[in-house]
Amino acid sequence: MSEHSANPSPAAAGRSRAVKAVIPAAGLATRFLPATKAVPKELLPVVDRPVLQYIVEEATQAGIEDVLLITGRGKTSMVDHFDRRPDLEARLEAKGDAERLEAVRRPSELAEIYTCRQPEQLGLGHAVGYAESHVGDQPFAVLLGDEFVKPSEPLLPAMLELQARTGGVVLAFFEVDPAETKRYGIASVEPAEAELTDVGEVVKVTGMVEKPKPEDAPSNLAVLGRYVLPGRIFDAIRRTEPGSGGEIQLTDAMELLRTEGVPVHAIVYRGTRYDTGMPLGYLQTVVQIAAERDDLGAEFRAWLGEFVKADASVGSNT
Ligand code: UTP
Repeated sequence: MSEHSANPSPAAAGRSRAVKAVIPAAGLATRFLPATKAVPKELLPVVDRPVLQYIVEEATQAGIEDVLLITGRGKTSMVDHFDRRPDLEARLEAKGDAERLEAVRRPSELAEIYTCRQPEQLGLGHAVGYAESHVGDQPFAVLLGDEFVKPSEPLLPAMLELQARTGGVVLAFFEVDPAETKRYGIASVEPAEAELTDVGEVVKVTGMVEKPKPEDAPSNLAVLGRYVLPGRIFDAIRRTEPGSGGEIQLTDAMELLRTEGVPVHAIVYRGTRYDTGMPLGYLQTVVQIAAERDDLGAEFRAWLGEFVKADASVGSNT
């Protein structure tokens, strides 16, 4: 059986799980300007950790210890976050602040972080193409740099498992309001003979379109920013012409593989997804994570409740 058979045996002929992750984080973040003019959106704080740290933690929680960050101009501070800071550590040690010392060291201990640069922002597919020399012909995970899932409802382990079984492309979807399809990549699917995972059902993907109008959308299943891809994707990216927005789209490269017989499956994720790529989603993320924190959640929730109550009574008086 070929590595990309459309009918893989469940035994998967000894295929192993992907062990590397790629985080494309070179985008221009135009939806979050002007905040992102000089600060990468991946470093915006969610309470006291940058978004990117949650994403690297998501990868390491799934057993991945090798992470390639695709960066771009003005974004090298992302790499600094995962480096040691001996000066800061010495100061905190001298003060006896063990808790903050641990917090400062933690990012540098999470994973082996590698970087490369995408010199021009020509699209997500183009960015992923830069991972080839690091990843080779092995399967790998892609985690977009502006969204993450709730750590207690992990998605990536089930995706890695599924990819090891199929040898193909594995995606994740979430359901959107049908009126919102034009903001997302949308998939058409059919039931897979497979099973339910802990975090959602598995479907077979029969097509994908970028940002369709509601009347043209084949479903309300939107592509979530997690992918597990076979090494063969690099060749497909090379053969992919610029598509939607004039960019080399990862969706188009995956579609190319699908039409060539590579199986494409997805997990319809039922857990909680945080989208920090634009102001509203970012604010919702900060509020949800802050409300759940052991250290400040109770106080924050009490304040938020009062704030909302006061705001509602102001609203009812006007
Ligand atoms: P987005 O579509 O969110 O683009 O990219 P963006 O530039 O980050 O933000 P907007 O839409 O202008 O506000 C999805 C992911 O792909 C990366 C981004 O960094 C983000 O993690 N990306 C996108 C690249 O690395 N390079 C690109 O050329 C495009």
